[in-house]
Amino acid sequence: MKTSTSQPRRTQVGIIGAGPAGLLLSQLLHQQGISSVVLENRSRQRVETRQRAGLLEQNTVDLLREAGAAARLDRQGLVHDGVLLSYNGQRHRVALAELTGGAHVTIYAQPEVIKDLIARRLDTGGTILFEADATRIEGLETDSPTIHYTYQGEALALECDFVAGCDGFHGIARQAAPAGFFKTYDKVYPYCWLGILARVAPSTDELIYAFHERGFALHSMRSSEISRLYVQCDPADTVDDWPDARIWAELHQRLGTAGWTLQEGPILEKTITPMRSFVTEPMQYERLFLAGDAAHIVPPTGGKGLNMAVADTKNLFDALRAHYQDGDDALLRGYSAACMRRVWRVQEFSNYMTEMLHLLPGKPAFDQYLQQSRFDLLTTCEAASRVLAENYVGMASHRASEGVALA
Ligand code: APR
Ligand code: PHB
Repeated sequence: MKTSTSQPRRTQVGIIGAGPAGLLLSQLLHQQGISSVVLENRSRQRVETRQRAGLLEQNTVDLLREAGAAARLDRQGLVHDGVLLSYNGQRHRVALAELTGGAHVTIYAQPEVIKDLIARRLDTGGTILFEADATRIEGLETDSPTIHYTYQGEALALECDFVAGCDGFHGIARQAAPAGFFKTYDKVYPYCWLGILARVAPSTDELIYAFHERGFALHSMRSSEISRLYVQCDPADTVDDWPDARIWAELHQRLGTAGWTLQEGPILEKTITPMRSFVTEPMQYERLFLAGDAAHIVPPTGGKGLNMAVADTKNLFDALRAHYQDGDDALLRGYSAACMRRVWRVQEFSNYMTEMLHLLPGKPAFDQYLQQSRFDLLTTCEAASRVLAENYVGMASHRASEGVALA
């Protein structure tokens, strides 16, 4: 193996992945005087432009503020006090703030969160190696595990005290434990989302999630000039199956309601997102800690992926701080248990939103009536809407700072 004089050989926390989890963890640790190095196999440009959902819970906003990375978010984020659900054109508003004692969500795109975190980390002297591909982790059972990676054609090694596996669903961290150590649970949904960014003012002030007999649709937004919209499509579809005119025609039908018009604009980008639920348990193996998509995936209905990654990061940060500052490893030992209850709550909510709102062709009529009745309950029973609202803004009882674990 070649050695390099210019790259760090040792750090306290070796972080794989410069997504929201890895970047935020690195910055929070730095602010407590704990060193870390972030290894990211994509280019900076690529990680800053990947389109992802853009809905932030209050907890997420608070943590980005704590990291000093929320100045632009505070200026440009769109605060939403309510959300609209539509069932075949019949709309129902869930008054998030009213039902939850004042909580709300903020719309701010994930690529912007990433840009802000990278800028903040680099401004404060952080080390993020882009196009550095972590290939394997060794010595997790020792006090000094090593992450092997390739960078600019060289095979390098980073020794650390702990490894944070923040490397997303396709990362390598999960594979570092012995085969069978991590249990995984998953569910693949038989539909996808086709997402577009369009240069047009949003036609709505609040997000619209629509069930329609032609399939699901969602109207979200990025700014006063850019709309973000989604339609349910078939897993076999490619973007070529969806010319602009077809997308707008479906959006008009699925989102439509009397007296309301959807404004069209040039489509800037089209992507297809698969829908899947996935959980790894536990989230720790010896000195390896998994956070974010490396440990769990949710379908995007409800926008929980980023928020879960941030909540894990908070748990992991608290545990590492207690280790370094107080010599107390109780939170490190309890990391996985503290996360799992929240993880399953968010899984259940994302699954509930997904299954209530999507069309499942060929589904027995019985199930379709159940789906309709779920929507009906929301329109007639405030308690049902409150449960949805509390989950949507982030359950207070399951916040990362509560460190909840099932008794
Ligand atoms: N070496 C280095 N970096 C890697 C490797 C590797 N072997 N494998 C993956 N990565 C990087 C990916 O390129 C990616 O940038 O790890 C990063 C993981 O980031 P995310 O996928 O954004 O995961 P996470 O930080 O957990 O954030 C979850 O992002 O995927 C969305 O919808 C999801 O909003 C959620 C959030
Ligand atoms: C988005 O703005 O991209 C978004 C918002 C809410 C969701 C999913 C995606 O539930």
